[in-house]
Amino acid sequence: MAKPWLLALSIITSLLFSSVSPDFNYVRPPPGKIITLKSNKPESHPQQVHVSAVGNEYMRVSWITDDKHAPSVVDYGKVTGKYEWSATGEQTKYHYFFYSSGLIHHVKVGPLEPNTIYFYRCGKAGDEYTFKTSPATLPIEFAVIGDLGQTEWTASTLAHVDSSNYDMLLLPGDLSYADTQQTLWDSFGRFVEKYASKRPWMVTEGNHEVESFLFFIEPFKAYNARWLMPYEESGSTSNLYYSFDVAGGSVHVIMLGSYTDFDSNSDQYKWLVSDLKKVNRERTPWLIVLLHAPWYNTNSAHQGEGESMRQSLESLLYAAHVDLVFAGHVHAYERFTRIYDNKADPCGPMYITIGDGGNREGLALDFEEDHKSVSLSMFREASFGHGRLKVLNGTHAHWSWHRNQDSDSSVADEIWIESLSSVDACKTSGKSSSSSSSLNDEL
Ligand SMILES: *[C@@H]1O[C@H](CO)[C@@H](O)[C@H](O)[C@H]1NC(C)=O
Ligand SMILES: [Fe+2]
Repeated sequence: MAKPWLLALSIITSLLFSSVSPDFNYVRPPPGKIITLKSNKPESHPQQVHVSAVGNEYMRVSWITDDKHAPSVVDYGKVTGKYEWSATGEQTKYHYFFYSSGLIHHVKVGPLEPNTIYFYRCGKAGDEYTFKTSPATLPIEFAVIGDLGQTEWTASTLAHVDSSNYDMLLLPGDLSYADTQQTLWDSFGRFVEKYASKRPWMVTEGNHEVESFLFFIEPFKAYNARWLMPYEESGSTSNLYYSFDVAGGSVHVIMLGSYTDFDSNSDQYKWLVSDLKKVNRERTPWLIVLLHAPWYNTNSAHQGEGESMRQSLESLLYAAHVDLVFAGHVHAYERFTRIYDNKADPCGPMYITIGDGGNREGLALDFEEDHKSVSLSMFREASFGHGRLKVLNGTHAHWSWHRNQDSDSSVADEIWIESLSSVDACKTSGKSSSSSSSLNDEL
């Protein structure tokens, strides 16, 4: 083992990371202790099991085995122990300096019935798992958490998420905080398995997923191998940005990449233009975007880091009448009003930062009193927690933010949201609609 070498490597990398994050103006409270989980399973048994939605009728089951010859097969059915169907998939592995991953399996299963519990077994070995598919129509409930990590705080956030029913989890970046220590990716996979094997986890990447190292390690090596998302199915050429429909196409979710090119010549930009073009708002009343570095943020942490992406992509989202934009990165909760180009606009998206999942870096405590966007910020608080988005029908959704309060979870902020597709004054895709100020939710 080359442990001292790896330690030196992670110190160098964290210096590199911190040098680009202007977050030294505030003092963070003691973060939660990291919980690392070792495998207690035989080599051929699946571990780190998680599922993700692929289209309306399929689910991708992903897991890892230490056994490099274990089969990539999932047996599944609607009754425990009775597997009527079987699907075979693909496998991959990767090296990160002296670390060599287990065998990473990805198997697409289906067609599946909506809103149904399936029992499944991976690689013909080990435990039985269950997942529930999403409903084919509204209503649907999303849990939203960013900047998760694997600490005591993460454990309480996930327990709160799990304490009431939901259909799908959306994560706007920063998963394991492995920060080049690859065994922490494995530990994270074990940490979240209990939850991520039961409901689809749809994620996009944050800065902690980059993990590149000069010419030796390409960016997102571990993330792309482990957290394969349905990018091919959405016409994207990169796992770093993709989209999908849920609830029979009533909700379209777009996952963007803050740490890959987004300028007007980039593949991501072109893909976003074509993806938005395909959305028919008569059929799809809800349009939701997730990305990592927030475009609007009054916290002194990571101030301005999302600005160049905002300048490149904001007009595309506005023209498409995107309803909501979720971000992470800042370890706090902040909800804005509807905005376009730094001004309140009743036809712009509502912006929500939900980077308070509980990672080892602690909270971003310093909200600026005199920030230029402070009048657009409706609620801000530096506490750990998670969000819930219940999309009830084609016109109404309910958003709530649940603060981790000791062992309990309490609703600290909530608001009703009306789909922009149902607001007549926003239907024409004209440039400005700031005259219709009566529509604004809170201003
Ligand atoms: C949608 O849900 C809201 C909130 O429950 C309700 O007030 C509204 O009447 C519903 N609209 C339709 C068309 O059912
Ligand atoms: Fe981040």
